[in-house]
Amino acid sequence: FFQAVASPPSSNFLLLGPSGAGKTAFTTLLEAKSSLASNKSHSTHTSQQSTLVTVTLPPTVPTGSNRYRSVNDPSLKEATRNPIKYRVRDTPGHGKLRASQGIAELQAMSQSKDIKTRLRGVVFMVDTAALVDEATLRDTATYLHDVLLFLQKRAKNGSSSKRTTDIPVLVAANKQDLFTALPPGAVREKLEAEIDRIRKSKTKGLLDASADTELEGEEEILGNDEQEAFSFKLLEHEVGVKVDVVGGAVKGDLQEEFGSGVRRWEEWIGMCL
Ligand code: GTP
Ligand code: MG
Repeated sequence: FFQAVASPPSSNFLLLGPSGAGKTAFTTLLEAKSSLASNKSHSTHTSQQSTLVTVTLPPTVPTGSNRYRSVNDPSLKEATRNPIKYRVRDTPGHGKLRASQGIAELQAMSQSKDIKTRLRGVVFMVDTAALVDEATLRDTATYLHDVLLFLQKRAKNGSSSKRTTDIPVLVAANKQDLFTALPPGAVREKLEAEIDRIRKSKTKGLLDASADTELEGEEEILGNDEQEAFSFKLLEHEVGVKVDVVGGAVKGDLQEEFGSGVRRWEEWIGMCL
């Protein structure tokens, strides 16, 4: 016989990214999708505090542990009756709040000893219509660089005895509904090139600093191989930190192209569960 075992909402995801990217709009949408009777007001404004919400994965989205779920699969019925819950922490993206909130949350959540509450993945949201602006691109890439560098250090410090579990990153290329939006492939290229620039200037800074003093050896360069241009593939190969860039839209009518706008991000989340 079957017993309805309520799955505890123990899988955590962290939502990072610059101000105005759409993090709170995304969180609000997930909440609305999760509750049938939702008459919440959808006003978003610049966040100053992070919030934690519990949402449900649509039953038709496959999960990592149930990869080949088909429409005829009895487990779909089960998933409809007992949907999988997960938690999302929305953080403020303002530059002045990143160290104390976004990065601090990343540190705290990734250190969770409890396997059940461990961080399953990071969703780094970007406004793809704003990346043509040089300053926005630099700001976005700097934040992403810092997030990836933290994950790199974490991956390297995890000794083989107490092995750390992977924390993959989804770059959610948001606002694809806007006609000025860059497609996901271009977003990837721009971010990679900008991160490469940041990495190079950091390497140069370190070399200059170490000209008359001993190199401290503490500072680390993202991706390790300074000869090769930075790419997310390189990061995955050299360090084991996986980054996917996937387009979508929280707002606008993208039913055709993106399947409800956020479907592909939910699929990414499902694969982490
Ligand atoms: P901070 O809290 O400052 O870090 O920003 P945030 O990432 O939470 O941004 P927020 O969710 O407040 O969204 C900023 C603005 O972008 C809002 O006016 C949203 O309505 C708008 N927005 C979010 N997603 C989309 C989208 O997919 N398309 C369009 N056109 N606008 C969007
Ligand atoms: Mg917000």
